[in-house]
Amino acid sequence: MSGSNKKTYSVAVVGATGAVGNEMISILEERKFPVKEVRLLASDRSDGKKLEFSEKNITVKKTDSSSFNEIDIALFSAGASRSKEFAPLAVRSGAIVIDNSSAFRMDPDVPLVVPEVNPHAIARHKGIIANPNCSTIQMVVVLKPIHDAVRIKRIVVSTYQAVSGTGKEAIEELSQQTRDLFNYREVKHQVYPHQISFNCLPQIDIFEENHYTKEEMKMINETKKIIEDDTIAITATAVRVPVFYGHSESVNIETEKKLTADEARELLSDAPGVKLIDNIDALEYPLAIKAAGRDEVFVGRIREDESIEKGLNLWIVSDNIRKGAALNAIQIAEILIGV
Ligand code: A2P
Repeated sequence: MSGSNKKTYSVAVVGATGAVGNEMISILEERKFPVKEVRLLASDRSDGKKLEFSEKNITVKKTDSSSFNEIDIALFSAGASRSKEFAPLAVRSGAIVIDNSSAFRMDPDVPLVVPEVNPHAIARHKGIIANPNCSTIQMVVVLKPIHDAVRIKRIVVSTYQAVSGTGKEAIEELSQQTRDLFNYREVKHQVYPHQISFNCLPQIDIFEENHYTKEEMKMINETKKIIEDDTIAITATAVRVPVFYGHSESVNIETEKKLTADEARELLSDAPGVKLIDNIDALEYPLAIKAAGRDEVFVGRIREDESIEKGLNLWIVSDNIRKGAALNAIQIAEILIGV
């Protein structure tokens, strides 16, 4: 307890110097999370670096076995191998871990949570709660109300994903390649297997045995776990595009009962976390550049799939670093502390 009656919490951010970690720090401050201490952790490369929180300079420390002493909530976003190494240790030190990596998402003992969709799952946690993949989060926020109303039988999704989802080095790679192209310099790539500037890459993460990428399989498996329905048929194609912030998705669904486009618009117009932008007369639809920096999941271009009896097409856009990662994690933390 702090001096006042309000309970405050010691929060660690692992990966504080990264794209998502940085956003976590801003969102904790923005949403006035009741913080007693914020501990900023990263690799030894960042040891001693200063980052700002609530107008104070906080020194970043390297993550090690003593990093989680007296920590109540540990927000992890430093990659799956770091989560596997340090999250169990954080739990043993008494912290609750909210993990943004893929390390524990499909573990049956670990709740995989989107607060607008399955907040009840949080209660089952045994120390670790997983934050889903960014593309999955924005899709399920929109599809859950539709599933509840008319049951979705099949989902076909294609993504147009921003480079920030890969991390700060990918943001730099897109900038650098674009500068090099405009200056007639040789274009080099390191983060992605091909040039991303002025290009689209139909590969996100590594290929699996079935020739889908890991990102595509995450969308398929995580959606079923979050919506708590293994019977939905899902297929995904994940594409990286030269956009800095904001993932876009073309989503086609087939439903058990008919839902007209007008009914879908009405249903989604007051769905939690969703903002409907669907006015084609005014050329208004969700755009990545407008979703960047915002908390909502935007949906538009809703129309009936005329090739089947009961189907819809939707265009879903959200800030992948905020709702797709940092914001979702902090919403989970807010539920944990009862805000
Ligand atoms: P660092 O900046 O010290 O390398 P992004 O997802 O934007 O690429 O960021 C990755 C985050 O994960 C960064 O904060 C990075 O810290 C952190 N990180 C990378 N390796 C480790 C490690 N071995 N231990 C702790 N944090 C790490």
